[in-house]
Formats: sequence, C-alpha cells, structure tokens
Amino acid sequence: MTDLTLLQQITDYSNRHDPYPLYARLREKPVHHDETGPYVIGGYHAVRALLHDPRISSERRNRTATTELPGQEDGDEGGTLPPNFLRLDPPEHDRLRAITNRPFGPPHSPHRIDGMRGELQTIVTDLTDALDGDEIDLVERFSYPFPVTVICRLLGVPREDESRFHGWADTLVATLDPQPGQDVTERDRIAQQARIELGLYLNGLIEERRKSPGDDMLSQLASGDAPESRMSNMEVLSTAALLLIAGHETTVNLITNGMLTLLRHPQVLERLRADARLAVPLVEELLRYEPPVQMLPNRTPITDIEFAGTTIPKGSSIWLMLAAANRDPKRFADPDRFDPDRVDIQHLGLGSGIHSCFGAPLARLEAQLALSELARRLERPRLVEDPPPYRTNAVLRGPRQLRIAIDGVRP
Ligand code: HEM
Repeated sequence: MTDLTLLQQITDYSNRHDPYPLYARLREKPVHHDETGPYVIGGYHAVRALLHDPRISSERRNRTATTELPGQEDGDEGGTLPPNFLRLDPPEHDRLRAITNRPFGPPHSPHRIDGMRGELQTIVTDLTDALDGDEIDLVERFSYPFPVTVICRLLGVPREDESRFHGWADTLVATLDPQPGQDVTERDRIAQQARIELGLYLNGLIEERRKSPGDDMLSQLASGDAPESRMSNMEVLSTAALLLIAGHETTVNLITNGMLTLLRHPQVLERLRADARLAVPLVEELLRYEPPVQMLPNRTPITDIEFAGTTIPKGSSIWLMLAAANRDPKRFADPDRFDPDRVDIQHLGLGSGIHSCFGAPLARLEAQLALSELARRLERPRLVEDPPPYRTNAVLRGPRQLRIAIDGVRP
C-alpha cells in the first residue's frame, strides 16, 4: 500500500514509464478532488468540455490555490517577459495568436509550412547520415537537435548563429527537467542568464529585421503594417520564446515516443518502411497513444462551477489529463492498443479549443518526416533498454535517452 495520493502517484517518477493504469483509476470518477488540492479530470468528454468552457482560465493570476506538486513550472519567461498567449485569456490571447498566425498559416500564409518541407527533409537526411556506430542514442543524435534547428529556420535566425541559439535552448529546456539533488539556485541562475542572453540576441535581430525585413516569421511579427497586426518588441520576444519552448521538448518527445512505440510494434515499423504514407495516420495515433503533453495542470475557474455533481471553486487548480482522456474506453474502442489504422481518431494530444496547439501542422510534418526517414534508413534497429530512462517531467513526458542498436544506415 502507498501513502501517496493518486495525483502524487501520477507525478511520482517511479511511475513515469507507465502511468496509464493510474489514469484508468482516475477515470473511475468524473472529477477526482485530490487530497493535495487540485481537481483532476480524466474522462475524454469532460476534458474536452472544459477545454471549450470560457469560465476556465489559463491565466496564473486567477489561480489562488497553491500546491506543492511539481508540474507548474513554465520554463519560459521566468518573470523577465510579459506572459505569452499560452497563458493569456481572451481578448489578449486572441489578439496575439492572430498576429502570430499571419506569417504562419492560412489565410495570410497558407504555404509557410508546406514550403518548409524540402528544408525539413534536408535536416532529417543530414541528421540520419551522421548516425554512425552500432549503437546510438536517438534523443541526443536526432530527436533533440531537430526541432530547435527548425525553430531557428522558422524565426529566421542566421545559420552562423544557430549553435549559440542551440546552447540557450538547451539551458532553458533543462529547467523543464529538474534533477533530484540538483542545486536549484544555481540552475535558476544559469537559466536566467540564458534568458537574458537569448533576449538580447533576439532583440538585436528584431531591430535588424524592422529595418530590413525578410520572409521569416520574426521579420513579419516585427514589421506588421497595421496597428492590430503589430506587436511591441517585448511581445515579439515573448512570442519567439514561446515558439521555441512550446515547439521543442514536445517535438523531441513525439519523435522519441514514436520510435519507441515502433520498436515495440515491429510489424508497424516494417509497414512504415515499405510505405512512407503510413506516417500520416501513424503520427495521429501516436498523439493519442503516447501524447508528449500528458496533462494541462494550469487551468482555473473564474467563478464557482458545477461539474458532474462537484462544485469546483473559483481560483482552484484544475488539471486536465489529456493522456487519460486519450485512452478513455467510452470514447475509443480498445484504447490501450496502438493501431495506426484507427479511423475515428479525434484525440486531445494537441489540446482543443482556443489554446489548441498553434504549431500543430509543423509538429505533424516534423514527426512524419522524421519517423519515415528513420524507418527507411536504420538497418535492423533494436531497443537496447526497455523501458528506457525517462525525463523527470510528468507533464512533458518522454525518454531522456533512447538507445538503439543498429547494423548500419542505408543510403
Ligand atoms: C509534437 C509536438 C507538439 C505537441 C504534442 C504540442 C501540444 C500542445 C498542446 C497540448 C497545447 C495546448 C496547451 C493548452 O491548452 O494550454 C499546445 C499549445 C501550443 N503549442 Fe504546441 N505542441 C507541439 C508542437 C508545437 C510546435 C512545433 C510549436 C511551434 C511552432 C507549438 C506551439 C504552440 C503554441 C504557441 C501553443 C499555445 C497556443 C495558444 O495558447 O493559443 N507547438 N501545444
């Protein structure tokens, strides 16, 4: 027997490799009011309903409840920048998201992501070409460097500065993965230093791009022509940092969880090797089955709400458990089975409602290209360790390392 509450067990590192049985227990009740304070929701329909409920806020200042549980670290602005739109409610959220979307997606920029396909494929090919030796750590050699290179290209960071940018990103992402016994003050000092350096660097780049704009996102965010399509320098900075953080660890984990799942299902890996088109439905099923963002622990009601017979008080902490919802048998048949042929696949792996993942088309394309390249080119890949060691973070869950033995890399 354990003395830990259900939510403490879920966030406890010993369960990181397989939290799914705990999520099943969570779904037994529509609302689990944990003894540590938070109201935790795990059923698909309930999570989805709350993601669409305007009485549920994403703003920290509306939350009065405090909890000792890990999971609410931001790793993004650390007080140096104004809150980004992930952490804002309407109308500010909608204004900033709309401006950010102008250079990113339809209707103003319908070709941005598809236009990056060739460049993404080149990055993936180069990373795979460099995988020599008979054992590789996929995280270090492939999943980790890929998304940050992509964000650099998206923002328009000059090639010669990319390695400096990688260094700052590494430091910031490391704050999302606290290590037991680590000197927290020292870690925070280093992270703060990286934030300042990154901020100064981006500020310089924004100034340059205001003078001579290019086709990159940073130029377009900094030089919008109408007032409603313009951001202040601080807002551009905060948005650029959001794109970096939100698009980094998540994509690393999607690719790594993807390869781990494929190696555990060799017949699916073989199918992908023979037909790269399988990558599209396969990535959707992965976002359901092993979502990189397991839960959203940052919601709070702005008024008392009645939900499934429970009163959730204003200012309390609500945790929406995306990964539990994705395995709800009331929504998905045989939910613990990984099945890329599933047709009814409206998962919550990218969220839902006004905050649903802004980078979704890019995230999908990155994972599709990465997994089909690895499936096609790695010669007889085998897991060296199963389960692999996980990162400590329960929210952004994924292996810290994925060691794979290979017989070589095909051309
Ligand atoms: C596999 C990769 C990814 C996953 C699983 C993922 C997942 C999510 C989820 C679940 C949310 C909802 C957060 C909430 O409701 O509070 C979200 C929001 C967001 N994501 Fe992603 N994401 C991924 C990749 C990316 C990429 C590549 C980018 C950037 C290019 C990005 C940018 C964002 C932004 C800016 C938001 C905030 C949207 C808003 O508040 O309106 N994400 N993401």
